[in-house]
Amino acid sequence: MDKLVIEGGKPLSGSIVIQGAKNAALPILAACMLAEGTSTIEHVPRLLDIDVMLNILRELGCRAEHVGDTVVLDTETAHTSHVPESLMGQMRSSIFLMGPLLARFGETQVYQPGGCAIGERKIDLHLEGLQALGAEIEEIGNRIICRADKLHGADIHLAFPSVGATENIMMAAVLAEGRTTISNAAREPEIQDLQKFLNAMGAKIMGAGTDTITIEGVQSLTPCTYTVIPDRIVAGTIMVAAAATRGQVTLLNTNPAHLSSLIHVLRRAGVQILVDGDIIKVGCPGRPRAVERVVTAPYPAFPTDLQSQVMVLLALADGVSILKETIFEGRLKHVDELSRMGADIRVDLNSAFIRGVPRLYGATVEATDLRAGAALVIAGLAAQGKTIVEQIHHIDRGYDCIETMLSRLGARISRYSPVPKN
Ligand code: EPZ
Repeated sequence: MDKLVIEGGKPLSGSIVIQGAKNAALPILAACMLAEGTSTIEHVPRLLDIDVMLNILRELGCRAEHVGDTVVLDTETAHTSHVPESLMGQMRSSIFLMGPLLARFGETQVYQPGGCAIGERKIDLHLEGLQALGAEIEEIGNRIICRADKLHGADIHLAFPSVGATENIMMAAVLAEGRTTISNAAREPEIQDLQKFLNAMGAKIMGAGTDTITIEGVQSLTPCTYTVIPDRIVAGTIMVAAAATRGQVTLLNTNPAHLSSLIHVLRRAGVQILVDGDIIKVGCPGRPRAVERVVTAPYPAFPTDLQSQVMVLLALADGVSILKETIFEGRLKHVDELSRMGADIRVDLNSAFIRGVPRLYGATVEATDLRAGAALVIAGLAAQGKTIVEQIHHIDRGYDCIETMLSRLGARISRYSPVPKN
């Protein structure tokens, strides 16, 4: 398995163009199934999760090419709506193929995506939403069969503003008869991007970005060309890495409005942030200050996907900080690995009590999930000595060649791919 080898202690410097958003591209690629023909999606990063989504779409009969950061997807030849279990297991978020497949084929078969390192990740809200639209759902073991001769509009209230459930219901409702409202909807920028894409295909959706989304069903949609928004989590990761290494980095092709909660926390920690259009400049000449309390919550609050990264900065800050994770029940596994690098962090239920230390020390550590892996890379960049990060396939799910990205900012980082034993 590949590893990353990092020589820490060097401040990051220079500028970087931020990749397209994984969590916008994935539902948009799934939504292409709602129209027969060829769509072109620009600014799609080259990631394992994108590869899995394209392989599932090919398995369903589509033709898909990913050239540079452009995906050309022809769904004309799609001939089945049954997603193979083996592919479902590779990526949980394939569950939001249910909505578009049900809307297009009237029937779909997927598999329980199962939990993962960060938590149980139930899909009850997805299934309840599709049932409200008229779907009949049968679960046989871990197989889920969904049928609907014709989907109809409904008023749906989400018990929790689930990102995936909001997206699934939106995509199922666009071809349903009548009006659908989703209240307590997720408000993430990726939901807004999905609305913009679906409307570009001819859908009639309003309200994404607020807690109430309205969808007027239409007869059909047409393929289109679309550019995905920048990845706010990758941008946030780089911003934290710049601060943790006391560097000076300029980020290009960002949407600062999508990062306001992170910018607020970083400024409270004494990090200098300058915003100019789609450019963000980050500098942290001295030791960061502790931040009394950071709590993850649905957008626009502080994002769970930046929790582990910010923990590294707070682990190096002057003082005590509390970081509370309220979205996923198992998303503090990186604490053990950071402690092995000299961090002083105590976990109680879903809160981490972080006493900043002057420095971290290089060690061999293991990525347990995508964002925990990114956090360990940041820790390695800031630490004194050498860090080896193992299980980096987790990181490759969400970062397009992270070692290249960081080397361009002066980091001493390389990928080690062991020669396969013959
Ligand atoms: C999306 O996951 C993102 N993934 C996650 O990013 C992100 O952490 C998460 O939203 C929260 O912002 C993609 O967009 C591909 P949820 P999703 O449904 O849709 C519970 C990353 O690192 N829940 O908002 O799965 C669930 O258990 C990934 O890029 C139910 O109880 O998140 C969790 O505790 C990680 N029932 C909470 O809601 C349901 O039916 C948030 O889940 C659905 C969710």
